[in-house]
Amino acid sequence: MKKLYIETLGCAMNVRDSEHMIAELNQKEPYALTSNLKEADLIIINTCSVREKPVSKLFSEIGVFKKYKKPSAKIGVTGCTASHLGKDIIKRAPSVDFVLGARNVSKLSKIIDVKHAVEVDIDHDDSLYAFGEYRTHPFKAMINISMGCDKSCTYCIVPATRGDEVSIPSELIIREIEKAVATGAKEVMLLGQNVNNYGKYFSSKESKCNFTELLQKVSQIEGLERIRFTSPHPLHMDNEFLEEFAHNPKICKQIHVPLQSGSTSLLKEMKRGYSKEWFLNRCAKIRKLCPEATISTDIIVGFPNESDADFEETMEVLEAVRFEQLFSFKYSPRPHTAAAEYENQISNKIASKRLTRLQARHTEIVDEIMNAQMDAEHQVYFDELKSGGRVSGRADDGKLFFVEGSEDLLGSIQKVKVIKTSRGALNGIIL
Ligand code: SAH
Ligand code: SF4
Ligand code: F3S
Repeated sequence: MKKLYIETLGCAMNVRDSEHMIAELNQKEPYALTSNLKEADLIIINTCSVREKPVSKLFSEIGVFKKYKKPSAKIGVTGCTASHLGKDIIKRAPSVDFVLGARNVSKLSKIIDVKHAVEVDIDHDDSLYAFGEYRTHPFKAMINISMGCDKSCTYCIVPATRGDEVSIPSELIIREIEKAVATGAKEVMLLGQNVNNYGKYFSSKESKCNFTELLQKVSQIEGLERIRFTSPHPLHMDNEFLEEFAHNPKICKQIHVPLQSGSTSLLKEMKRGYSKEWFLNRCAKIRKLCPEATISTDIIVGFPNESDADFEETMEVLEAVRFEQLFSFKYSPRPHTAAAEYENQISNKIASKRLTRLQARHTEIVDEIMNAQMDAEHQVYFDELKSGGRVSGRADDGKLFFVEGSEDLLGSIQKVKVIKTSRGALNGIIL
């Protein structure tokens, strides 16, 4: 059997695209996955271009792959960097055999044998395409519910790499989840750049269903026990959606509310569509409706024109919401984005200082949150065997747990009591 080495960078959508690529290949000719580059017949780098660093790493990586791969092995560059650099990738690195953009995954088996094929059409519509079944994880499934993004946040390259937003009809989503449940998945992660904008744009006429209705439909699937989703947009967090989140027992009580900045004037320049007050109001509503929920966020520091006062407002939101999880980044100017042209770019020194302060304070908050977990009880879904007779899993609210146990626990949901806490994970015993 031929062997595939696939490296996946970036977000959950890219992880799902990699699964779809494996499914596509398997329909033509089965491939075994390998982590040994030297024995691969096909090497795929599924790239991310959200910040500059991973892009510059790509070309040095292609050089290394070229050096160590079998002479007959092909190299494909896929994903968001493929979308935005297109044929320039082959110009710069002729050892690359094909370039397949983020929205063009279904074309993989057609182009794999075409030397120097480049397929990067961001208008390509796979929303009605039924991919073959493949998932990395036996107990959990990722399911796309929409493609692309209808926003134009001024820092973000994603609309230029994944194109306009289009939702996948709910019937196709339900069918796909039912199949995953029939083969052992008890948990599903619904994926899209703005999941709670679901239902605005369809390619086919008949589908009419918003995100709240989709959640209701999905939760009726028998055998499915847990529903997660990422990423929702704060702008579309209406009361109806938050009530569904809080009261539907199948929806896991973990929600990503990407802040980006705490300053209303900066949020305006980012074109996020909400104010600091709206963001705080939505988070307060989540805490009130659902005190057990955890809230994670994304923050960018050093966006053009970010003053000390703007940054203090971000710190204020951090104190007010006390996010359980934070993904924070220094602003990185990207091609095809409005903010890259803004005057008053912030120096790396200032951005680094702000990032360090933000992360240090957040670490203190996480320590307080995790220490308070001693003796708490959670429902944990066990999904991974670890070394030393341990098994790991996630609580409903996303906290990572370790318990002593064997593979019998895998795929089961158990009540667990915390016996030891640390910053990243909790140790527990099954009750
Ligand atoms: N659709 C999602 C975001 C996807 S990109 C949303 O709106 O929440 C993931 C995160 O990368 C963003 O939330 C943002 O915090 C960060 N990001 C995007 N562009 C960036 C840039 N140019 N520089 C630094 N961080 C960026
Ligand atoms: Fe990027 Fe904004 Fe779209 Fe998220 S909502 S993918 S940050 S443009
Ligand atoms: Fe990266 Fe594309 Fe996702 S730029 S974050 S892989 S949508």
